[in-house]
Amino acid sequence: MKKYFVIVAVVAAVAACNSNTNSSTTSDSSAGTSASTSSDLNNNPDYKKGLDLIASNDCLTCHKVDEKVTGPAYRDVANKYDNTDANVKMLAQKVITGGSGNWGAVAMTPHPSLSQADAEQMVKYILLLKNK
Ligand code: HEC
Repeated sequence: MKKYFVIVAVVAAVAACNSNTNSSTTSDSSAGTSASTSSDLNNNPDYKKGLDLIASNDCLTCHKVDEKVTGPAYRDVANKYDNTDANVKMLAQKVITGGSGNWGAVAMTPHPSLSQADAEQMVKYILLLKNK
């Protein structure tokens, strides 16, 4: 009887471990990375400067971090492009000149009064939101 109980306990423990690893590996690891990246991000000057610029422009009328509004969610933009100098320059140009085609038929309005440097700073912030 005692032996039977031990076996049941072991089987239950193994089953519990298996279900943990199966069901929560992905959500655990993504929660872990987003928690650690968000505290890292707050200390990242590119993140703060870019966010301030975006907040003081009209960007947030069409974009949210995690939700598609008129424009794509910034996290989707970050997941689509690698954070390279070439992509930062290319996306900054797109913010300045506006246009459509990469996410659908709806166009982004041009922002001709933005400097290339400010636009690049905003894009650097956006690309830091990458989560995959
Ligand atoms: C009028 C609404 C609107 C405003 C305002 C707006 N956007 Fe957009 N944005 C869009 C749309 C729509 C797209 C998708 C364009 C496409 O499909 O190529 C987009 C795409 C983008 C992209 C991805 C471009 C690509 O080619 O993948 C970035 C980066 C971006 N916006 C940044 C910004 C920034 C920074 C601002 C503020 C200066 C801003 N947007 C203001 C509507 C807007």
